Amino acid sequence: MLESLPPREEDKILRLMKLFADDPRVGKVDLGVGVYRDSGGRTPVFSAVKQAETRLVETQESKGYVGLAGDPAFHRAMAGLVLGDLAETIPYAACGTPGGTGAVRQGFELMRLAGNPQRRIWLPDPSWINHGSILDTLGIPRADYRYYDAETGGIDLEGMLADIGMAAPGDVVLIHGCCHNPTGADLKAQDWAALTRLLAERNLTPFVDLAYQGFGDGVEADVAGLRDMVAALPETIITISASKNFGLYRERVGCVLAPCTDARARDLTHAALAWLNRQNYAFPPDHGARVVTTILSDAGLRADWQEELDGMRGRMKANRTALAGELRRLTGSDRFGFLQSHRGMFTLLGLTTDQVLALRRDHGLYMVEDSRINIAGLTDATVPLAAEAIAAVL
Ligand SMILES: Cc1ncc(COP(=O)(O)O)c(C=O)c1O
Repeated sequence: MLESLPPREEDKILRLMKLFADDPRVGKVDLGVGVYRDSGGRTPVFSAVKQAETRLVETQESKGYVGLAGDPAFHRAMAGLVLGDLAETIPYAACGTPGGTGAVRQGFELMRLAGNPQRRIWLPDPSWINHGSILDTLGIPRADYRYYDAETGGIDLEGMLADIGMAAPGDVVLIHGCCHNPTGADLKAQDWAALTRLLAERNLTPFVDLAYQGFGDGVEADVAGLRDMVAALPETIITISASKNFGLYRERVGCVLAPCTDARARDLTHAALAWLNRQNYAFPPDHGARVVTTILSDAGLRADWQEELDGMRGRMKANRTALAGELRRLTGSDRFGFLQSHRGMFTLLGLTTDQVLALRRDHGLYMVEDSRINIAGLTDATVPLAAEAIAAVL
């Protein structure tokens, strides 16, 4: 039986990590990996996380099962963080999941449960690669909408609205909450407003994948557009990851939030999400979710977490400025000026595959083949090296 399994291609980013590890060159630089790195190249445990974990170890008296949808205190903490005051006034269903990927998967399955097998989900072009592959695995029809304008490094707003305008009423539109992966190009306030109007007009449901809250312009600023959208529309599916903004990658902390119109829709959605958890893995992981809840419900820990997160964001922005500056100096052009308007960990440099491979082969500079770089992988020492290498392959 097992020998009849179809061969699977290795994950591109994991393959890149292996190639990097096997490269003996001393000056090699890894901009491929999708985790935050500090100036020493480490992915740190937040101080607030350590403190919350210590508290949990000292006070937790049971590891007994929690509910199928996870801990209600975690749901409230996430709703408060993402929805702010709206969490007090709008009914919402919530469910803990294994990481943001688990949330995306459960969100997609939820859509499939909600009738209409013809319903399509619209993805930005490009999008996080797993969006398309999970939809294909589930057999959910999908379509792309224009999103990134490679000429300007910004959003193709006109193309985006034209494509989404062709969606059938009842379709779902996936939007990256902030820090778009892989491009780094985000919607501005007026873009969120235009999109919200279009979704309302065409009776489309937003599915907002929020994996980087706090990595863009701030914990509150990064969800301002989303909050306005939630307030204006009857239903929104939101999938959340705490991997990046709490540094809890391996603990698998995620959540589906579904603000909806009334208590009946909320209860049906909550029950469906709990049922989906039961079918897939029963109970969601608890440790990391409890760490997040502990941090968000304690003023001191929350301030500590926020300060560290602000520092990470500041470092990424400083790297953007430094790399854009070096590239401006070396190329004599503003071709890479978009680095500074992009947000979050990622930026699509707009290089060809040949250029990316040359960077890897001739300069030991590693990035994903579509030329996505992780800006947090740079340090003061490697910015000039990376800029020189990039300028050399143009
Ligand atoms: C857009 C997007 N959504 C969701 C995720 C899921 O992250 P995780 O499953 O590690 O929490 C990621 C991680 O790279 C992402 O970039």
